[in-house]
Amino acid sequence: METLSIDIGGSHLKAACLDAEGRATSARVKIDTPNPAKPDAVLAGLDELRRTVGGNPTRCSVGFPGVIREGVVQTAVNLDPQWRGFDLAQALHQRWSLPVRVANDADMQGAAVVSGKGVELVITLGTGIGSALFVDGRIVPNLELGHAPFRKGETFEEQLGKAARKEVGNLRWNQRLEAAILHWRTVFNFDRLYLGGGMAKNIEFKLPLDVAVVDNEAGVLGGIKLWEEGAKLARATAE
Ligand code: BGC
Repeated sequence: METLSIDIGGSHLKAACLDAEGRATSARVKIDTPNPAKPDAVLAGLDELRRTVGGNPTRCSVGFPGVIREGVVQTAVNLDPQWRGFDLAQALHQRWSLPVRVANDADMQGAAVVSGKGVELVITLGTGIGSALFVDGRIVPNLELGHAPFRKGETFEEQLGKAARKEVGNLRWNQRLEAAILHWRTVFNFDRLYLGGGMAKNIEFKLPLDVAVVDNEAGVLGGIKLWEEGAKLARATAE
């Protein structure tokens, strides 16, 4: 059984086919997110990805950069306002005649990297700042830390997102991230913090022992987790 796993991001759309263990059975394909990233344009991009990935998937998982309830998009800060209320699971199900599950992108990525023990926080550093919280492997869905206030009247995403790093440079971005980790430690008392996303490679300070950088590929590899019983990631289904 193959699963087509898709990661929709503010900058890129990525996909791969996965086997039952979550290993990629195809090339991992990446294209730019269309601009403007309205639903029709993104869906056309996903058609292209699906053709390029090939294989013979019998189901599909999608990580989406916003709050997702029952397959329906609630927020999409870094894409386009047209996404609000869009039933993505249903739209892809109708388009491709495959069972489809959709979850928040950080939730999907987090599911691929946590150990299942204790309080585990996953932060993704990309165009937006994603967050996922797990307690003994069970998720608190749709945690949106990125939009919580951080410093100087700005949110974590405004201070640490891709645009902020470009604006203030890597040194200050690193200083801000170090301060943010202290903040998250105080609030969540995590046993482990994982840092993922495309910008994690820019971290230049020594991380504490309970903080680890995880492979950005986990975004797509997490796709298999949406189909596992117990993860309760995807109350988001069109089957
Ligand atoms: C969104 C989150 C998402 C994150 C990373 C934020 O702007 O609100 O839902 O996980 O970006 O894509």
